[in-house]
Amino acid sequence: MDKRTRMKANNDRSENQQQLIDRLIKRNEKLEKVNDEYKRVCRNEEERIKELNCLYQVAQCVVIETDMDRALGKIARIIPNGWQHTKKSCARVTVKKNPFLSGNFFKSDVFQKEDVFLDGQIVGRIEVFYDSSLVSNQENPFLIEERNLLKGIADIISFYLQKQRNDDKRKIIQQQLLHADRLATIGQLAAGVAHELNEPLGNILGLAQLSLKLPKLPDQAKTDLNKIEDCVIYSREIIKKLMEFSRQSSLSKETFDLNQLIENSITFLEVRCHKEDITIIRQYAENVTITADPTQIKQVITNLTINAIQAMKNGGELTILTRKVDKKIVFSIEDSGVGILEKNISRAFVPFYTTKDVGEGTGLGLSVVYGIIQNHNGDIKVSSKPGKGTIFQVTLPLEEV
Ligand SMILES: Nc1ncnc2c1ncn2[C@@H]1O[C@H](COP(=O)(O)OP(=O)(O)OP(=O)(O)O)[C@@H](O)[C@H]1O
Ligand SMILES: [Mg+2]
Repeated sequence: MDKRTRMKANNDRSENQQQLIDRLIKRNEKLEKVNDEYKRVCRNEEERIKELNCLYQVAQCVVIETDMDRALGKIARIIPNGWQHTKKSCARVTVKKNPFLSGNFFKSDVFQKEDVFLDGQIVGRIEVFYDSSLVSNQENPFLIEERNLLKGIADIISFYLQKQRNDDKRKIIQQQLLHADRLATIGQLAAGVAHELNEPLGNILGLAQLSLKLPKLPDQAKTDLNKIEDCVIYSREIIKKLMEFSRQSSLSKETFDLNQLIENSITFLEVRCHKEDITIIRQYAENVTITADPTQIKQVITNLTINAIQAMKNGGELTILTRKVDKKIVFSIEDSGVGILEKNISRAFVPFYTTKDVGEGTGLGLSVVYGIIQNHNGDIKVSSKPGKGTIFQVTLPLEEV
Protein backbone atom coordinates (compact mmCIF):
# COMPACT_ATOMS: atom_id res chain seq x y z
CA MET A 1 0.00 0.00 0.00
CA ASP A 2 1.46 3.37 -1.01
CA LYS A 3 1.66 6.36 1.29
CA ARG A 4 -1.43 8.04 -0.14
CA THR A 5 -3.62 5.04 0.26
CA ARG A 6 -2.46 4.60 3.88
CA MET A 7 -3.28 8.23 4.69
CA LYS A 8 -6.77 7.88 3.26
CA ALA A 9 -7.36 4.72 5.30
CA ASN A 10 -6.24 6.57 8.43
CA ASN A 11 -8.55 9.49 7.72
CA ASP A 12 -11.51 7.16 7.16
CA ARG A 13 -10.86 5.42 10.47
CA SER A 14 -10.68 8.64 12.48
CA GLU A 15 -13.86 9.86 10.77
CA ASN A 16 -15.62 6.66 11.80
CA GLN A 17 -14.35 7.05 15.34
CA GLN A 18 -15.60 10.67 15.50
CA GLN A 19 -19.01 9.57 14.25
CA LEU A 20 -19.10 6.87 16.90
CA ILE A 21 -18.17 9.37 19.58
CA ASP A 22 -20.90 11.77 18.37
CA ARG A 23 -23.45 8.98 18.43
CA LEU A 24 -22.40 8.01 21.94
CA ILE A 25 -22.66 11.61 23.15
CA LYS A 26 -26.16 11.91 21.67
CA ARG A 27 -27.25 8.63 23.21
CA ASN A 28 -25.87 9.75 26.52
CA GLU A 29 -27.81 13.00 26.30
CA LYS A 30 -30.99 11.04 25.58
CA LEU A 31 -30.34 8.75 28.52
CA GLU A 32 -29.86 11.75 30.77
CA LYS A 33 -33.17 13.19 29.59
CA VAL A 34 -34.93 9.87 30.24
CA ASN A 35 -33.29 9.75 33.63
CA ASP A 36 -34.45 13.30 34.42
CA GLU A 37 -37.97 12.42 33.28
CA TYR A 38 -37.91 9.30 35.43
CA LYS A 39 -36.80 11.34 38.45
CA ARG A 40 -39.54 13.90 37.77
CA VAL A 41 -42.20 11.19 37.57
CA CYS A 42 -40.89 9.67 40.80
CA ARG A 43 -40.99 13.07 42.52
CA ASN A 44 -44.53 13.61 41.28
CA GLU A 45 -45.50 10.17 42.55
CA GLU A 46 -43.99 11.01 45.94
CA GLU A 47 -45.90 14.30 46.04
CA ARG A 48 -49.19 12.58 45.14
CA ILE A 49 -48.57 9.96 47.83
CA LYS A 50 -47.86 12.72 50.38
CA GLU A 51 -51.05 14.53 49.38
CA LEU A 52 -53.20 11.39 49.53
CA ASN A 53 -51.68 10.50 52.87
CA CYS A 54 -52.44 13.99 54.20
CA LEU A 55 -56.04 13.82 52.97
CA TYR A 56 -56.45 10.36 54.49
CA GLN A 57 -55.12 11.53 57.88
CA VAL A 58 -57.45 14.54 57.86
CA ALA A 59 -60.42 12.31 57.01
CA GLN A 60 -59.42 9.85 59.73
CA CYS A 61 -59.19 12.68 62.22
CA VAL A 62 -62.79 13.79 61.69
CA VAL A 63 -64.04 10.20 61.96
CA ILE A 64 -62.20 9.45 65.21
CA GLU A 65 -62.22 12.79 67.07
CA THR A 66 -65.50 13.82 68.66
CA ASP A 67 -64.00 16.88 70.34
CA MET A 68 -64.07 19.63 67.72
CA ASP A 69 -61.17 21.72 69.06
CA ARG A 70 -58.90 18.68 69.29
CA ALA A 71 -59.84 17.61 65.73
CA LEU A 72 -59.15 21.06 64.25
CA GLY A 73 -55.85 21.33 66.14
CA LYS A 74 -54.74 17.94 64.77
CA ILE A 75 -55.77 18.87 61.24
CA ALA A 76 -53.74 22.10 61.40
CA ARG A 77 -50.69 20.05 62.38
CA ILE A 78 -51.27 17.44 59.64
CA ILE A 79 -51.70 19.91 56.75
CA PRO A 80 -48.04 20.92 56.07
CA ASN A 81 -47.17 17.21 55.52
CA GLY A 82 -49.18 17.28 52.29
CA TRP A 83 -47.29 20.22 50.77
CA GLN A 84 -44.20 19.96 48.58
CA HIS A 85 -41.95 22.08 50.83
CA THR A 86 -43.18 20.59 54.10
CA LYS A 87 -40.33 21.99 56.18
CA LYS A 88 -40.85 25.53 54.86
CA SER A 89 -44.61 25.55 55.32
CA CYS A 90 -47.14 25.98 58.11
CA ALA A 91 -50.92 26.06 58.38
CA ARG A 92 -53.70 27.86 60.20
CA VAL A 93 -57.29 26.59 60.46
CA THR A 94 -59.71 29.27 61.69
CA VAL A 95 -63.26 28.34 62.64
CA LYS A 96 -65.65 30.90 64.17
CA LYS A 97 -62.67 33.20 64.83
CA ASN A 98 -60.82 30.45 66.78
CA PRO A 99 -57.40 29.83 65.24
CA PHE A 100 -55.68 26.41 65.28
CA LEU A 101 -52.00 26.48 64.27
CA SER A 102 -49.51 23.94 63.00
CA GLY A 103 -46.10 23.69 64.67
CA ASN A 104 -43.57 26.49 63.93
CA PHE A 105 -46.30 28.80 62.78
CA PHE A 106 -45.26 31.93 60.91
CA LYS A 107 -47.10 34.35 58.67
CA SER A 108 -45.86 35.24 55.21
CA ASP A 109 -47.07 36.87 52.00
CA VAL A 110 -46.82 33.55 50.20
CA PHE A 111 -49.96 31.65 51.04
CA GLN A 112 -53.03 29.81 49.75
CA LYS A 113 -56.43 29.90 51.41
CA GLU A 114 -59.80 28.18 51.15
CA ASP A 115 -63.09 28.97 52.92
CA VAL A 116 -64.89 26.63 55.34
CA PHE A 117 -68.70 26.54 55.36
CA LEU A 118 -71.51 25.73 57.79
CA ASP A 119 -75.17 25.86 56.74
CA GLY A 120 -74.07 27.51 53.50
CA GLN A 121 -72.33 30.38 55.33
CA ILE A 122 -68.59 31.03 55.50
CA VAL A 123 -67.53 30.32 59.08
CA GLY A 124 -63.78 30.09 58.71
CA ARG A 125 -60.83 29.29 56.45
CA ILE A 126 -57.69 27.24 56.02
CA GLU A 127 -54.43 28.95 55.14
CA VAL A 128 -51.13 27.39 54.14
CA PHE A 129 -48.08 29.70 54.35
CA TYR A 130 -44.76 29.17 52.59
CA ASP A 131 -41.45 30.65 53.67
CA SER A 132 -41.03 33.79 51.51
CA SER A 133 -37.56 32.62 50.38
CA LEU A 134 -39.35 30.16 48.08
CA VAL A 135 -40.72 32.94 45.87
CA SER A 136 -37.36 34.05 44.51
CA ASN A 137 -37.09 30.79 42.53
CA GLN A 138 -40.66 30.48 41.23
CA GLU A 139 -43.54 32.89 40.64
CA ASN A 140 -46.16 30.65 42.26
CA PRO A 141 -44.51 28.03 44.44
CA PHE A 142 -47.77 26.12 44.99
CA LEU A 143 -48.70 23.16 42.77
CA ILE A 144 -52.09 22.84 41.08
CA GLU A 145 -52.57 19.60 43.00
CA GLU A 146 -51.99 21.47 46.26
CA ARG A 147 -54.89 23.82 45.47
CA ASN A 148 -57.11 20.76 44.95
CA LEU A 149 -55.80 19.25 48.18
CA LEU A 150 -56.63 22.44 50.08
CA LYS A 151 -60.15 22.40 48.63
CA GLY A 152 -60.51 18.72 49.63
CA ILE A 153 -59.45 19.45 53.22
CA ALA A 154 -61.81 22.46 53.43
CA ASP A 155 -64.68 20.22 52.23
CA ILE A 156 -63.86 17.62 54.90
CA ILE A 157 -63.80 20.30 57.63
CA SER A 158 -67.11 21.79 56.39
CA PHE A 159 -68.66 18.31 56.46
CA TYR A 160 -67.30 17.77 59.99
CA LEU A 161 -68.73 21.07 61.27
CA GLN A 162 -72.13 20.25 59.76
CA LYS A 163 -72.06 16.78 61.31
CA GLN A 164 -71.18 18.20 64.75
CA ARG A 165 -73.97 20.79 64.43
CA ASN A 166 -76.49 18.06 63.51
CA ASP A 167 -75.29 15.86 66.40
CA ASP A 168 -75.73 18.76 68.85
CA LYS A 169 -79.24 19.46 67.53
CA ARG A 170 -80.13 15.76 67.83
CA LYS A 171 -78.89 15.67 71.44
CA ILE A 172 -80.99 18.73 72.36
CA ILE A 173 -84.11 17.19 70.76
CA GLN A 174 -83.46 13.91 72.59
CA GLN A 175 -83.13 15.76 75.90
CA GLN A 176 -86.32 17.71 75.22
CA LEU A 177 -88.19 14.49 74.41
CA LEU A 178 -86.87 12.86 77.55
CA HIS A 179 -87.88 15.87 79.58
CA ALA A 180 -91.36 16.01 78.02
CA ASP A 181 -91.71 12.28 78.71
CA ARG A 182 -90.74 12.77 82.36
CA LEU A 183 -93.18 15.61 82.76
CA ALA A 184 -95.92 13.53 81.14
CA THR A 185 -95.30 10.72 83.64
CA ILE A 186 -95.33 13.17 86.56
CA GLY A 187 -98.49 14.68 85.04
CA GLN A 188 -100.25 11.29 84.98
CA LEU A 189 -99.28 10.64 88.58
CA ALA A 190 -100.37 14.12 89.64
CA ALA A 191 -103.67 13.74 87.80
CA GLY A 192 -104.34 10.43 89.56
CA VAL A 193 -103.54 11.81 93.01
CA ALA A 194 -105.48 15.02 92.37
CA HIS A 195 -108.51 13.10 91.22
CA GLU A 196 -108.45 10.81 94.27
CA LEU A 197 -108.03 13.71 96.70
CA ASN A 198 -110.59 16.03 95.13
CA GLU A 199 -113.60 14.11 96.40
CA PRO A 200 -112.61 13.62 100.06
CA LEU A 201 -111.49 17.26 100.18
CA GLY A 202 -114.88 18.30 98.81
CA ASN A 203 -116.51 16.28 101.58
CA ILE A 204 -114.30 17.85 104.27
CA LEU A 205 -115.13 21.33 102.97
CA GLY A 206 -118.85 20.57 102.81
CA LEU A 207 -118.89 19.13 106.34
CA ALA A 208 -116.86 22.02 107.75
CA GLN A 209 -119.22 24.53 106.17
CA LEU A 210 -122.24 22.60 107.47
CA SER A 211 -120.76 22.42 110.96
CA LEU A 212 -120.14 26.18 110.91
CA LYS A 213 -123.88 26.64 110.57
CA LEU A 214 -124.61 24.65 113.77
CA PRO A 215 -126.21 26.76 116.55
CA LYS A 216 -124.39 27.52 119.80
CA LEU A 217 -121.01 26.65 118.37
CA PRO A 218 -118.19 27.46 120.84
CA ASP A 219 -115.83 30.19 119.58
CA GLN A 220 -112.82 27.86 119.55
CA ALA A 221 -114.71 25.34 117.34
CA LYS A 222 -115.71 28.17 114.98
CA THR A 223 -112.08 29.33 114.67
CA ASP A 224 -110.92 25.76 114.05
CA LEU A 225 -113.62 25.12 111.45
CA ASN A 226 -112.70 28.34 109.66
CA LYS A 227 -109.06 27.19 109.60
CA ILE A 228 -110.16 23.80 108.20
CA GLU A 229 -112.14 25.61 105.52
CA ASP A 230 -109.13 27.78 104.55
CA CYS A 231 -106.79 24.77 104.45
CA VAL A 232 -109.17 22.80 102.24
CA ILE A 233 -109.62 25.74 99.86
CA TYR A 234 -105.82 26.07 99.64
CA SER A 235 -105.45 22.31 99.01
CA ARG A 236 -108.10 22.39 96.31
CA GLU A 237 -106.25 25.30 94.70
CA ILE A 238 -103.12 23.12 94.48
CA ILE A 239 -105.17 20.27 93.08
CA LYS A 240 -106.62 22.60 90.47
CA LYS A 241 -103.08 23.59 89.47
CA LEU A 242 -102.03 19.95 89.28
CA MET A 243 -105.04 19.22 87.06
CA GLU A 244 -104.05 22.13 84.82
CA PHE A 245 -100.48 20.85 84.63
CA SER A 246 -101.62 17.36 83.70
CA ARG A 247 -103.91 18.84 81.05
CA GLN A 248 -107.06 17.57 82.71
CA SER A 249 -108.91 20.88 82.54
CA SER A 250 -110.96 21.47 79.39
CA LEU A 251 -110.43 24.44 77.08
CA SER A 252 -112.97 27.13 76.45
CA LYS A 253 -111.71 28.81 73.29
CA GLU A 254 -112.41 32.30 72.06
CA THR A 255 -110.85 34.57 69.46
CA PHE A 256 -109.19 37.59 71.05
CA ASP A 257 -106.43 40.14 70.73
CA LEU A 258 -103.36 38.92 72.59
CA ASN A 259 -101.96 42.41 73.26
CA GLN A 260 -105.22 43.37 74.94
CA LEU A 261 -105.22 40.21 77.05
CA ILE A 262 -101.64 40.92 78.15
CA GLU A 263 -102.61 44.46 79.14
CA ASN A 264 -105.56 43.10 81.17
CA SER A 265 -103.33 40.52 82.84
CA ILE A 266 -100.63 42.95 83.93
CA THR A 267 -102.75 45.91 85.05
CA PHE A 268 -102.94 44.69 88.62
CA LEU A 269 -99.15 44.13 88.61
CA GLU A 270 -98.24 47.59 87.33
CA VAL A 271 -98.43 49.27 90.74
CA ARG A 272 -96.22 46.57 92.22
CA CYS A 273 -93.67 47.03 89.40
CA HIS A 274 -93.62 50.77 89.97
CA LYS A 275 -93.05 50.25 93.71
CA GLU A 276 -90.25 47.76 93.11
CA ASP A 277 -88.48 50.00 90.58
CA ILE A 278 -89.27 47.73 87.63
CA THR A 279 -89.78 49.35 84.22
CA ILE A 280 -92.19 47.61 81.89
CA ILE A 281 -91.17 47.69 78.22
CA ARG A 282 -93.84 46.73 75.68
CA GLN A 283 -92.88 45.56 72.21
CA TYR A 284 -96.19 44.59 70.65
CA ALA A 285 -96.81 43.58 67.04
CA GLU A 286 -100.08 44.68 65.43
CA ASN A 287 -103.09 42.39 64.87
CA VAL A 288 -102.09 39.50 67.05
CA THR A 289 -105.46 37.77 67.17
CA ILE A 290 -105.51 34.20 68.35
CA THR A 291 -108.06 31.54 69.17
CA ALA A 292 -107.35 30.06 72.57
CA ASP A 293 -108.69 29.82 76.10
CA PRO A 294 -108.30 33.43 77.35
CA THR A 295 -108.54 32.50 81.05
CA GLN A 296 -105.76 29.97 80.71
CA ILE A 297 -103.53 32.22 78.56
CA LYS A 298 -104.06 34.96 81.13
CA GLN A 299 -102.87 32.52 83.77
CA VAL A 300 -99.72 31.86 81.71
CA ILE A 301 -98.98 35.58 81.39
CA THR A 302 -99.63 36.20 85.08
CA ASN A 303 -97.48 33.29 86.28
CA LEU A 304 -94.57 34.26 84.03
CA THR A 305 -94.83 37.94 84.95
CA ILE A 306 -94.96 37.24 88.69
CA ASN A 307 -91.89 35.01 88.39
CA ALA A 308 -90.10 37.77 86.49
CA ILE A 309 -91.00 40.36 89.15
CA GLN A 310 -89.91 38.02 91.94
CA ALA A 311 -86.56 37.55 90.17
CA MET A 312 -85.85 41.31 90.21
CA LYS A 313 -85.62 42.11 93.91
CA ASN A 314 -83.51 45.20 93.17
CA GLY A 315 -85.58 46.49 90.29
CA GLY A 316 -84.86 46.09 86.60
CA GLU A 317 -86.59 45.78 83.26
CA LEU A 318 -89.54 43.62 82.33
CA THR A 319 -89.85 43.31 78.56
CA ILE A 320 -93.03 41.90 77.05
CA LEU A 321 -92.93 41.17 73.36
CA THR A 322 -95.50 39.84 70.90
CA ARG A 323 -94.94 39.00 67.25
CA LYS A 324 -96.20 36.88 64.39
CA VAL A 325 -93.90 34.28 62.89
CA ASP A 326 -95.32 32.30 59.93
CA LYS A 327 -98.60 30.88 61.17
CA LYS A 328 -97.72 31.27 64.81
CA ILE A 329 -97.87 33.86 67.54
CA VAL A 330 -94.86 34.26 69.73
CA PHE A 331 -94.81 36.15 72.98
CA SER A 332 -92.03 36.45 75.46
CA ILE A 333 -91.57 37.73 78.98
CA GLU A 334 -88.06 38.78 79.76
CA ASP A 335 -86.54 40.04 82.99
CA SER A 336 -83.16 41.38 84.00
CA GLY A 337 -83.20 39.47 87.28
CA VAL A 338 -81.15 36.80 89.01
CA GLY A 339 -81.43 34.20 86.24
CA ILE A 340 -81.57 30.40 86.53
CA LEU A 341 -78.57 28.10 86.68
CA GLU A 342 -78.22 25.90 83.57
CA LYS A 343 -78.68 22.70 85.61
CA ASN A 344 -81.97 23.99 87.08
CA ILE A 345 -83.61 25.16 83.86
CA SER A 346 -85.36 21.87 83.05
CA ARG A 347 -86.28 21.31 86.73
CA ALA A 348 -88.17 24.61 86.80
CA PHE A 349 -91.18 22.99 85.07
CA VAL A 350 -91.35 20.03 87.45
CA PRO A 351 -94.25 20.36 89.95
CA PHE A 352 -93.23 21.59 93.41
CA TYR A 353 -89.75 22.65 92.32
CA THR A 354 -89.18 26.03 93.94
CA THR A 355 -86.30 28.08 95.23
CA LYS A 356 -88.63 30.46 97.04
CA ASP A 357 -89.39 30.60 100.74
CA VAL A 358 -92.40 28.82 102.17
CA GLY A 359 -95.42 30.99 101.54
CA GLU A 360 -93.79 32.78 98.61
CA GLY A 361 -94.03 29.94 96.11
CA THR A 362 -95.52 26.46 95.79
CA GLY A 363 -93.44 25.53 92.75
CA LEU A 364 -96.51 24.95 90.62
CA GLY A 365 -96.58 28.17 88.56
CA LEU A 366 -94.42 26.96 85.68
CA SER A 367 -95.95 23.44 85.78
CA VAL A 368 -99.32 25.06 85.18
CA VAL A 369 -97.87 27.20 82.38
CA TYR A 370 -96.36 24.10 80.77
CA GLY A 371 -99.64 22.16 80.95
CA ILE A 372 -101.64 25.04 79.44
CA ILE A 373 -99.21 25.56 76.57
CA GLN A 374 -99.16 21.83 75.80
CA ASN A 375 -102.95 21.82 75.87
CA HIS A 376 -102.92 24.57 73.22
CA ASN A 377 -100.45 22.64 71.03
CA GLY A 378 -97.93 25.35 71.71
CA ASP A 379 -94.37 25.39 72.86
CA ILE A 380 -92.42 27.11 75.63
CA LYS A 381 -88.70 27.78 75.68
CA VAL A 382 -86.54 29.30 78.36
CA SER A 383 -83.08 30.77 78.18
CA SER A 384 -81.34 32.31 81.11
CA LYS A 385 -78.01 33.78 82.17
CA PRO A 386 -77.37 33.74 85.91
CA GLY A 387 -76.96 37.31 87.11
CA LYS A 388 -78.23 38.75 83.82
CA GLY A 389 -81.84 37.62 83.43
CA THR A 390 -84.28 35.15 81.98
CA ILE A 391 -86.54 34.98 78.97
CA PHE A 392 -89.55 32.70 78.62
CA GLN A 393 -90.77 32.45 75.04
CA VAL A 394 -94.19 30.99 74.25
CA THR A 395 -95.28 29.96 70.76
CA LEU A 396 -98.97 29.39 70.00
CA PRO A 397 -100.78 28.50 66.78
CA LEU A 398 -102.19 31.70 65.24
CA GLU A 399 -105.68 30.57 64.35
CA GLU A 400 -107.95 27.69 65.34
CA VAL A 401 -106.13 25.44 67.84
N1 LIG B 1 -88.02 34.56 85.73
C1 LIG B 1 -87.35 33.77 86.55
N2 LIG B 1 -86.12 34.11 86.99
C2 LIG B 1 -85.42 33.33 87.83
N3 LIG B 1 -85.88 32.14 88.30
C3 LIG B 1 -87.09 31.72 87.90
C4 LIG B 1 -87.89 32.51 87.00
N4 LIG B 1 -89.03 31.83 86.77
C5 LIG B 1 -88.95 30.70 87.47
N5 LIG B 1 -87.81 30.63 88.16
C6 LIG B 1 -87.34 29.53 89.01
O1 LIG B 1 -88.18 28.40 88.79
C7 LIG B 1 -88.78 27.98 90.01
C8 LIG B 1 -90.14 27.41 89.72
O2 LIG B 1 -91.02 28.44 89.27
P1 LIG B 1 -92.55 28.24 89.48
O3 LIG B 1 -93.24 29.44 88.93
O4 LIG B 1 -92.95 26.91 88.96
O5 LIG B 1 -92.73 28.15 91.03
P2 LIG B 1 -92.57 29.33 92.11
O6 LIG B 1 -92.57 30.64 91.44
O7 LIG B 1 -91.43 28.97 92.96
O8 LIG B 1 -93.90 29.15 92.93
P3 LIG B 1 -95.42 29.48 92.44
O9 LIG B 1 -95.34 29.94 91.03
O10 LIG B 1 -96.15 28.21 92.57
O11 LIG B 1 -95.88 30.54 93.34
C9 LIG B 1 -88.79 29.24 90.88
O12 LIG B 1 -88.83 28.94 92.26
C10 LIG B 1 -87.46 29.88 90.49
O13 LIG B 1 -86.39 29.28 91.15
MG1 LIG C 1 -94.05 31.14 90.05
